[in-house]
Amino acid sequence: MRPDPGEADPLNDVVAWRDGHIVAIDQTALPGEFRVLHITTVHELVDAITRLAIRGAPALGVAGALGVALAVRQGAREGWRSARLETEVERIAGARPTAVNLRREVQAAAAAIQQGPAAVEAAAAAIRDTVIGASRHISERGAGYLSEACGTRPLTIHTHCNTGALACLGWGTALGVIRMLHERGELGKVIVDETRPLLQGARLTCWELGQLGIEHYLTCDGAGPFLISQGLADAVVVGADRVAANGDVANKIGTYALALAARRAGIPFVVAAPESTIDEATESGRQIPLELRPEDEVTHVLGVPAAPPGTRALNYAFDVTPAELVTAIVTEDRVILPGRDHCAGSPHPLRQRT
Ligand code: MRU
Repeated sequence: MRPDPGEADPLNDVVAWRDGHIVAIDQTALPGEFRVLHITTVHELVDAITRLAIRGAPALGVAGALGVALAVRQGAREGWRSARLETEVERIAGARPTAVNLRREVQAAAAAIQQGPAAVEAAAAAIRDTVIGASRHISERGAGYLSEACGTRPLTIHTHCNTGALACLGWGTALGVIRMLHERGELGKVIVDETRPLLQGARLTCWELGQLGIEHYLTCDGAGPFLISQGLADAVVVGADRVAANGDVANKIGTYALALAARRAGIPFVVAAPESTIDEATESGRQIPLELRPEDEVTHVLGVPAAPPGTRALNYAFDVTPAELVTAIVTEDRVILPGRDHCAGSPHPLRQRT
């Protein structure tokens, strides 16, 4: 079911604070059903995050910040001592380990706890506004970068996972760049990886592109590198869950293969992400914690068995693309060229602000 286009933008509810609790679109139900969750406890929030009802690095950051406000309210209701509140806040921060935005924004909102519930809610609201504002700037900067790098002819962009409003609020990151190219008349079409095992590309990106009226083609993850080798795409544009200080990029499993293919084909591999996804405290991709998720997400497809009973699976949710394969990282503030800066011998290109 699609929301009525005549109503207020339904994507405002991706993650939001309403009447003292969190509302969130249940992304596990899309594209079949548009369902809004009403989350009133830390337990419900952690459950929503771990089963990917709320997902995507920037949206996780917003959910984490709002989660601190929720924990403060729940603590007041249930008479928690400060140690219990700390434990519950840590449960939110640790619900998913790879996207640095989650822990970062939880910590930012938690810094206001001493000033009382209103201050925490204001801090969380400010974080949400910042994330939305950043997405617009990333989209503009990224579209400008691609026009310069590839020309303004209608471009074909290959993307992976879901990086639109559902993942980021506002415009999104990689999908925001694509949307901006579309608005400028510089986009031809989008090639969307299905993004196994949980099909964020097929279920969510195709849904968002359909809502935006953007021409797109779904492809199997395994087909992506070959399609790129055949010259079908002008650039690969993806998001990120964490960017290490040396420019290595953690993103949805399958991203690395696209980066290798893009390098071999000589097309730009562009990462669009907010500054809050850059983790200067993590030296390189080797130190990024990569989430290992339940095996049945791979042995089953949308709940249906796809392998003999007892088959074991390796379900790494993310991979790391080395900086040398990344043509550009576009944030709301700058364009970083990790590949070039690596060639110039700098071990930490991100620390040199342009
Ligand atoms: O497991 P998910 O769906 O949370 O993974 C999301 C991604 O890998 C996105 O590409 C990333 O968070 C960037 S969202 C702008």
